[in-house]
Order: sequence, then C-alpha cells, then structure tokens
Amino acid sequence: MSENDFLCGLMELQYGVDVKETLQSLSSSVPWARGWPEDKKSFWNAEAFMWGRKISKEKRSLIKQELSFLSGNNLDIGCGAYSYIKSVGFDISPKMLDFNDNCTEKVCGDVEKPLPFSSNTFDSVTSIFVLNYVTNHKQLLSEISRTLKDNGEFVMVLSSKDINGWQKQKEVNSFESSGWTTLLENIGFNLTFYEKDGLWFWKCSKNKT
Ligand SMILES: C[S@@+](CC[C@H](N)C(=O)[O-])C[C@H]1O[C@@H](n2cnc3c(N)ncnc32)[C@H](O)[C@@H]1O
Repeated sequence: MSENDFLCGLMELQYGVDVKETLQSLSSSVPWARGWPEDKKSFWNAEAFMWGRKISKEKRSLIKQELSFLSGNNLDIGCGAYSYIKSVGFDISPKMLDFNDNCTEKVCGDVEKPLPFSSNTFDSVTSIFVLNYVTNHKQLLSEISRTLKDNGEFVMVLSSKDINGWQKQKEVNSFESSGWTTLLENIGFNLTFYEKDGLWFWKCSKNKT
C-alpha cells in the first residue's frame, strides 16, 4: 500500500504537485526508497520508474548513432534504465538496472569507489549523463582508463545546457566543456570533443602503455 502511494506521489511530483513532504514520510515504509530524496540510491531508484520519459527519443537516437562506431565488450557506467549499446551495466540503483534490457550483465555499485573490474578488461566504456553527479570524478576517470584495454575507447556525454530542476539537486559539479577536456587529457586520453544538438561528446582513446 505505502509503495503504491509512494509511486502515485512520484507521478504527482512529476506534474508539479508539491507532495515532497508526504513522499518523504512515506519513503520510510518503502525499503528501496528509504531516505528519499537525500539518499542517492533511493533518489535514483525513484527516478527509475519514469526514466523512459526523461530523455527525448531524438536525444536517445542521436547518442545511439554517435556510439555506433564502438564494438566489442562495453562497460556502461551509470547505465540507468537505458544502455544505448549492449553493455555490462554498472549503476548504484537496483531499480534502474531492473528496467535496463540492454545489459549482458548488471553490476550494482558506487562510482565514487574503485570499480569492481579487473584492469585491461573492456574494449570500450561509455558514461552518459553521469559525470556531473560524481564528486570523485578524477578517481572515476582514472578507474575507467584502468579497466580499458590498450587502444580502448571511452565516450562521455553530458548535456551542454542546464539540467532539469529536480535532478539538479543531485548535481555536484558543472564544469565548462574545456574543464572536462583538461581533466580527460590529464588522465592521458587522446580525445576529440564536439557539441551537437545541446550535447557534449568526448571520444577518448587510451594510449598503449
Ligand atoms: C541521469 S541518469 C543517466 C542514466 C543513463 N546513462 C541514461 O543516459 O539514460 C544518471 C545515472 O547515474 C547513476 N548514478 C548516479 N550516481 C551514481 C553513483 N555514485 N554510482 C553509480 N551510479 C550512479 C544513477 O543511478 C542514474 O542511473
């Protein structure tokens, strides 16, 4: 019953109804939402139910197109409920992972910690709309490089515009594109950067070590 009420409240919130306090108190009786919205796992678990509608079909198909050059075993960091190409999906939210039907394997974990994958494992790594939520972003970028094979590719995508108000509460950084480019170069990636239809794309190659 509490779970149904919580889900109905989430829909109302989506339409701008001020039900945050009611939802906060209901969340204590819903195991996957406990501590919502402050707790990050609970926050993203709740987002999972409406994730299909949060990013437009046009953006999805543009990103899919831009990733179509990748082949082999891909790790999708912060995959959420939607991986653009077949991937090993990694996400903090079990609910997001439940909804994702493009994963060969699903791994639940926190990108603020070292990644639970061996070095030189993946042909490519993708991370779409995620790095702006990561405090320990330098560690994550170097972990991504570690898990990539030599000459492997890393593609990172972020919105070039301000993100919507509700998800913005979880944003922990909002660098200019040049700031991200410098961070990626400092990790040792060779990269191409471009902007397309309100999105920033970094296509990075790991140099042979
Ligand atoms: C904006 S969504 C993007 C989802 C997906 N990449 C897409 O393009 O639809 C951000 C995703 O990052 C995940 N995430 C946020 N913080 C995380 C963390 N610390 N560790 C792992 N995943 C995290 C969330 O659960 C969510 O699925």
